[in-house]
Amino acid sequence: MIVLLVALIALAAVAGAAIHFRDDIADLVIVWAKGREPGLIIGDPSDPYMHRIFVVPKNRVFNIFVHRIMRDDDDRALHDHPWWSVSWIFRNHYFDIVPKFPDSFRICGHGRLIPVRREEWSMTFRRATDLHRIVLPGPGKTEAWSLFITGPEIRDWGFLCPQGWRSSKVFSETRDGVSVVGRGCA
Ligand SMILES: [Fe+2]
Repeated sequence: MIVLLVALIALAAVAGAAIHFRDDIADLVIVWAKGREPGLIIGDPSDPYMHRIFVVPKNRVFNIFVHRIMRDDDDRALHDHPWWSVSWIFRNHYFDIVPKFPDSFRICGHGRLIPVRREEWSMTFRRATDLHRIVLPGPGKTEAWSLFITGPEIRDWGFLCPQGWRSSKVFSETRDGVSVVGRGCA
């Protein structure tokens, strides 16, 4: 029994050390990322949704980004992506707003939405066509950080409106470094 207790305490100590270690690594990544010019600022530069920092040079085959998620995604519609991706949250958590019935939602352009809590240190795999919208936890809307890995660029990405799918360019476009908000689903 004593051996079991000692083993459990030792295990707890190692696990605790591991938790501190990974948080320390997360701190280092955040300091590193804040010291770099973002490769892409998504949204209005004065109030962006997200900073994307390139860990490897951006390419059309395989990317590793650090995402600094600073506010909720565009709430006019759910969006998809140009590639499959894995998102590994290493600071804070957020909610993914997703369709309860993804297949019928994609056909109809609307349907019931549910929030799925994505915990700190959780990993989420998304196909390119998976629809979602990120919402930060309130009320302070503390920013979240993730390591984001993508596969090859295989499609244009956009938003699913009740009238059908629309390219991201209809929602917002960056012209001369300035983000211009488009008509969206209207
Ligand atoms: Fe997204």
